[in-house]
Amino acid sequence: MNAQEEFQAVLQAAVQQAVQWRNEGPSIPAIPPASAAQLRELFDIGLPENGRDPLKVIQSLADAAVPGLVSNTHSNFFAWVMGSSDPLGVAADVLTSAWGQNSGMYQTAPSSAICEEIVSKWLLELLSLPPSCSMAFTSGATMASFICLAAARSEVLARIDYDLEQEGLTGAPAIGVFLGEQAHATILAGLRYLGFGSKQLIKIAVDDQGRMLANDLEAKITAFSGPKIIIAQAGHINSGAFDPFEEICLIARIHDAWVHVDGAFGLWAQAVPKLKSLCKGVEQADSWTVDGHKW
Ligand SMILES: Cc1ncc(COP(=O)(O)O)c(C=O)c1O
Repeated sequence: MNAQEEFQAVLQAAVQQAVQWRNEGPSIPAIPPASAAQLRELFDIGLPENGRDPLKVIQSLADAAVPGLVSNTHSNFFAWVMGSSDPLGVAADVLTSAWGQNSGMYQTAPSSAICEEIVSKWLLELLSLPPSCSMAFTSGATMASFICLAAARSEVLARIDYDLEQEGLTGAPAIGVFLGEQAHATILAGLRYLGFGSKQLIKIAVDDQGRMLANDLEAKITAFSGPKIIIAQAGHINSGAFDPFEEICLIARIHDAWVHVDGAFGLWAQAVPKLKSLCKGVEQADSWTVDGHKW
């Protein structure tokens, strides 16, 4: 077999495994049958001295992995908020890997750059967000919020003539970070990466659905002097509740605060006419996070 024939053979073997996995559907237990000890034994065949027959590599990967796979690609899998992958997306993923582009910039991957540009434009249209927004794909909502909050941190400091990129965080003026008492745990992780300790955060009272109370926000923001960031939420992880964005954005405008919205799964309501009212006013925020896998 030459290299091309070998590539075709392993790809076909992998596709066959993929189709089989997805065909098994409801018969796959939600909880994988193998224990951690069994999986370790299946995977740890010892570090091979030499390369192995590629077809055997694919087969042994499947033999080791399948007993430990969670059936979250199945359309009846409802745990957490991950969603199942779309068959077309899976097929496109194969192509993306085969093309193997370095998608860091236009020069190394013109098609990736233009594809990203057009998808960004479509997403902003789908989510009814201002077309002038910049957009980036990240590994998930945690990193998306981290990036948005990093932008917020620089911008609110720049508004008081503090150049964070030049002067650094040590010695920077204190920023008031206002967020609902039930903000998602990943927001707290992102804030920690950005240098905000838990004790520095200003928690806003919420109702029984975890929705931020605008009057508490107003009282606490009025009592704070200095640069401010407000973090609101579209879709509470347990109740599905949406914060009152119109009121929050009005308060933010009065106090010159940046508003970030964690819309990991709830921002998609913007694309559904009968649910759009849940997001009323969300487009007035400064930054938003949304997850493709929570569609
Ligand atoms: C409201 C909310 N924010 C953030 C996240 C974190 O998302 P990711 O796992 O994509 O980082 C989740 C995940 O469930 C979420 O529900």
